[in-house]
Amino acid sequence: SSPLRLGIAGLGTVGIGVVKIIQRHADLLAMRSGRAVTITAVSARDRMKNRDADLSSYRWEDDPMAVATAPDVDVFIELIGGDAGIARDSIETALRSGKDVVTANKALLALHGQPLAELAEGLGRVIRFEAAVAGGIPVIKSMTESLAGNRITRVMGVMNGTCNYILTRMESAGLPYEAVFEEARQLGYLEADPTLDVGGIDAGHKLAILSSIAFGTQVSFDAVEIEGIERVSIDDIHRARDMGYRIKLLGVAQMTPRGLEQRMAPCLVPADSPLGQLVGGTNMVVIEGDSVGQIVLRGAGAGEGPTASAVMSDIVEIARGVRLPVFGQPANGLVAAQPARTAVP
Ligand code: NAP
Ligand code: HSE
Repeated sequence: SSPLRLGIAGLGTVGIGVVKIIQRHADLLAMRSGRAVTITAVSARDRMKNRDADLSSYRWEDDPMAVATAPDVDVFIELIGGDAGIARDSIETALRSGKDVVTANKALLALHGQPLAELAEGLGRVIRFEAAVAGGIPVIKSMTESLAGNRITRVMGVMNGTCNYILTRMESAGLPYEAVFEEARQLGYLEADPTLDVGGIDAGHKLAILSSIAFGTQVSFDAVEIEGIERVSIDDIHRARDMGYRIKLLGVAQMTPRGLEQRMAPCLVPADSPLGQLVGGTNMVVIEGDSVGQIVLRGAGAGEGPTASAVMSDIVEIARGVRLPVFGQPANGLVAAQPARTAVP
């Protein structure tokens, strides 16, 4: 069959990671997809930047819109970032131009995933986003495929590696929040706007996406109750340790008789539990299903290889012809039966 032709907009950490996997594993991807996966066009801001990958056989476009509308592109891969602007505009344009879309953009999906999903479905296209939640951990496909026979009762986890690094380091080094925050900044861990990390917003974005998939509800970031880690003191950490606990920025989504509750906040977890043992920048997602019981998924929530690995899983799924909607679409029976709910304080 014909090759699946990709257009990649955004050649930063994740975009270059995707290029490298496609170059390194062309045979493997062809075997798993049942067809070749090729890159036709790429785009980023600065054409002259050294990007640690050979891009010479791909057409360069200064404008991501040119990739989104290119006749020789089947799937538009949005890896620019940002919760609006060119990321949203180029995705909408790509869908309207008859392309499927893959993105890692958690902020955009948490805020605008619902209309984007509805647009995609109305146009008979798909939008996939495995990398948007917990980076390399295959959490979305675990729920939609491997746990498809379960009613999910609860999902929870540590979904921001930077916050987990800060909290872990405060305990291990006995340093105050401000000092470790500065360390994290120097190590390049923080988002350009660090409030997204330490304010719990980035993790809240991920929880909103995850709970929509788990419970078949519409994506509703506004309904996530969020408290960040800025006010966690070294005294709090020491008191927790003395009682046999650790403090983690924990997201919990569960269906209650009052509706869907989505909370992201610093929580005490037993120090010897899987969540309590999670150190550094790692992520962990715990899924509870009525048949399977509890599943614990742990792995890298960020970085070039892990995030690109998740993007590739979406590309291969599209190459195989899997075209079912993932979340929020009006034609999805679960959503029709269970319209969007608001978290109850
Ligand atoms: P990044 O390193 O900052 O790369 C962004 C890329 O977008 C750069 O290549 C940049 O071009 C390009 N870009 C920015 N504005 C543009 C514009 N107006 N037109 C064309 N290109 C533009 O970002 P990233 O870390 O790869 O993240 C990409 C996406 O993945 C984001 O949505 C992020 O939230 C998500 N994500 C990232 C990670 C991670 O570990 N990094 C994990 C999970 C999800 P230049 O290179 O020329 O500046
Ligand atoms: N800032 C995010 C984190 C990046 O620390 O987990 C991955 O989404």
